[in-house]
Formats: sequence, C-alpha cells, structure tokens
Amino acid sequence: MDTRFARRMGCMQPSSIGEILRAAENPQIISFAGGLPAAELFPVAEVAAAVQRTLAEIGPRALQYGVTEGIKPLREWIAAEMGLRGAACGADEVLVTTGSQQSLDLLGKIFLDPGDLIITENPTYLAAIQAFQAYEARFLAADTDEDGIIPESVEELAGKHEARFLYVIPNFQNPTGRTLSAARRKALYEVAARRGLIVVEDDPYGKLRYRGEHIAPLKSLDREGLVIYLSTFSKIVAPGFRTGWMVASKAVRERIVAAKAAADLHTSSLDQLVLERYLRDYDNAKHVEKVRSAYGERYGIMDGELAKAMPEGYRWTRPDGGMFLWVTGPEGLDSLELLKSALARQIVFVPGRDFFPDGSGAECMRLNFSNSKPELIREGVKRLAALCSDLP
Ligand SMILES: Cc1ncc(COP(=O)(O)O)c(C=O)c1O
Repeated sequence: MDTRFARRMGCMQPSSIGEILRAAENPQIISFAGGLPAAELFPVAEVAAAVQRTLAEIGPRALQYGVTEGIKPLREWIAAEMGLRGAACGADEVLVTTGSQQSLDLLGKIFLDPGDLIITENPTYLAAIQAFQAYEARFLAADTDEDGIIPESVEELAGKHEARFLYVIPNFQNPTGRTLSAARRKALYEVAARRGLIVVEDDPYGKLRYRGEHIAPLKSLDREGLVIYLSTFSKIVAPGFRTGWMVASKAVRERIVAAKAAADLHTSSLDQLVLERYLRDYDNAKHVEKVRSAYGERYGIMDGELAKAMPEGYRWTRPDGGMFLWVTGPEGLDSLELLKSALARQIVFVPGRDFFPDGSGAECMRLNFSNSKPELIREGVKRLAALCSDLP
C-alpha cells in the first residue's frame, strides 16, 4: 500500500547518525559518536533510595497526573540553580519539560510557520536542526570562529531577513566544544535587543566546565525578555529522567504550556518527584564535580593522543568543558567516506556535514570523549589516526 504522509515529513530526512548509533551498539566497536554521558558515574544507589522514599512517603499521588508547568518544589530548585548560574528567576518563570529536546520541538510548534527563518551557528546541534525542520523551517547560518558565533554576522543576517529567532549554544557547543566569550555574549545580546530578535539559549553543558571561569548566560543580560533559556538534568544527573527546563517571558510560557499540554500533558510525575527527592537528599554539586573531573581527564587524554598520532593537516578544538571536540581535516576529506572505513576498524564518530544547516563541513567530524574510558580513548584515537594516515 502506498501510505501518504504529511508534507512536512519531506523535510525530515533520516540522518547518518541513526545508522551509526545502531552499529555502535556492537560492544567490539569503540564509539566516539553518540553524545552519551558516562553511565558508570550515574548516581544509581542514590536514585534507588529516592525512588523508595518517594513511593513510601507520597504513595499513589506519585503516580497521578500533574500540572503541565511541572511540580513546584522542582521548579524552586531550578530557580535557585538559575541564580547560581547568574540568571536568577522565580519558580513561576520556570517550566519543566520532557528534556530540552522537547523545548526545541515546542518552540518550533509555537513560533514556526512553513518557510520561516531561524538564525543558527554554523555548525549547530543536529537534533535542533531536525526539530525545527519538522516545522518546515529554513536556516540562516551565521559565521562562527574560535570564540563562537560572530555577532556582526548575526546582525547582517537579521538586517537582511526576518528571522523568527536565533538559536545558540553558548557553552561547550555541540558539536564544536566552543564557548561564546563574555564580550561576545554582550555584543550578541545588543544585536538581539536592537533587532527585537528572540534568542533561544540552549545550555545543557554549562556546568561541565573543567577549566577556566563560569560565564554568565545570555539570559543574565535579558532586559527586554527576549531570551528563552533551556537547560536539562540530562548531563548533571542522568538523561533517563527525560527532564529539562525552560525559563521564558510570560507570553512565551503561556504558549508553551498550551503546546506542551497537547504534546504530553506534563513531564512524568514520578520522574519529577524522584529527581526532586534526590536533589533534596544528596549534594548534586559533588556529583557534578566528579563528572567534570572525569570528563576533564578524558578530554586531556583524547587531546594528547590526537597530538601524538594525527597526521599533518588535521586540527581540533580545545574545549574548556562539555563532552565533544571537533576535528577539521584537510580540504577534500570526506568524513562520511572515512566513517565507512572506520566502521571496518571498529571505531566510529559523527561526520560533520549533518551539523551544518548550509550543507558544508564534509571535512569535519565530532568526537565524544565523555562516554569512553581512558584506555578505549587511547586505542580509539590510535585507530582513527592510523586510518587518516592511510588516506591517499
Ligand atoms: C545542544 C543540545 N540541546 C539539547 C539536547 C537535548 O537534551 P535532553 O536530554 O535534555 O533532551 C542535547 C543533547 O545532547 C544537546 O546537545
């Protein structure tokens, strides 16, 4: 039977990443591909205790429907966390979401009509491109350099086109690992304020800094209520909770609540209650410290091994935090082709092209270092470097 799907499905092409992740499930393969946190660091015993206490103390209410905005005590914890990040807000300004990925989808739902334009970094987070493409958006790729997105480039694009919003990942960006400097944040915010441009600030990695000083989010500069701030528990506790948050103006929150109610009514009551209980009973800052130090060590090993083994013509970013670094190979390199030979040598990464809304980036690749133990990073980089050295 010839099944007819909605027109928007034509904008949702399968990416190479799905295939790779399936292949990477084979335990023989060393994967620098996925964006997975280190599972061996998850606070399993603490979460088990939080589940027990939640069910023992709250009983059936923990399994009941809840409000779309999210449970109040969790929103209070998030509001306090926002203060620590430099962008204090009230619990009423926070919405709990089913991961930041849901925020991206809901923002698409409330802002985008077919053909609408979004300004993004070039490259940017692959699954954000996919979420916005589902609403038939088109992309304006702003220029980036070592310090992140270039405000002048955003200003030029915003002057020429009517963009619905700017989407930016200021800390340890996915995929490049780059961080937007404090000066750039100020300049970027001024561009947004001058142009009345909404800014979607996606910050899953800001707490995973293993070098240098914390930089306050764009949200901290937000006099006009233009910034929609997104973050998540995925990288600071565990992604299985599928719990994230959004801080936004009242007008945006009201639309998001309506859109979220239609999508899933609310984020899982049990997940929210267990998470809140865990955060109340344990010092999560200590847990984050452990994660940061492990990722810092793994980054150092990957960087050092690349420096020892990669042939001439390859360079890579040196992130101060997060989970990825970004390798740029010599002109003419096709990293998707390279991946096919890499699979045969049991090492995988994500080829660069999928992260570029403008289709460039064939010579680039994203390497994840959070999800491989040191000995596997050493072996994986050796295999990758040998492969690159063998290229004609
Ligand atoms: C930049 C960025 N935004 C959003 C997400 C989605 O995170 P969540 O697990 O909260 O849905 C990710 C996940 O890797 C990400 O890298």
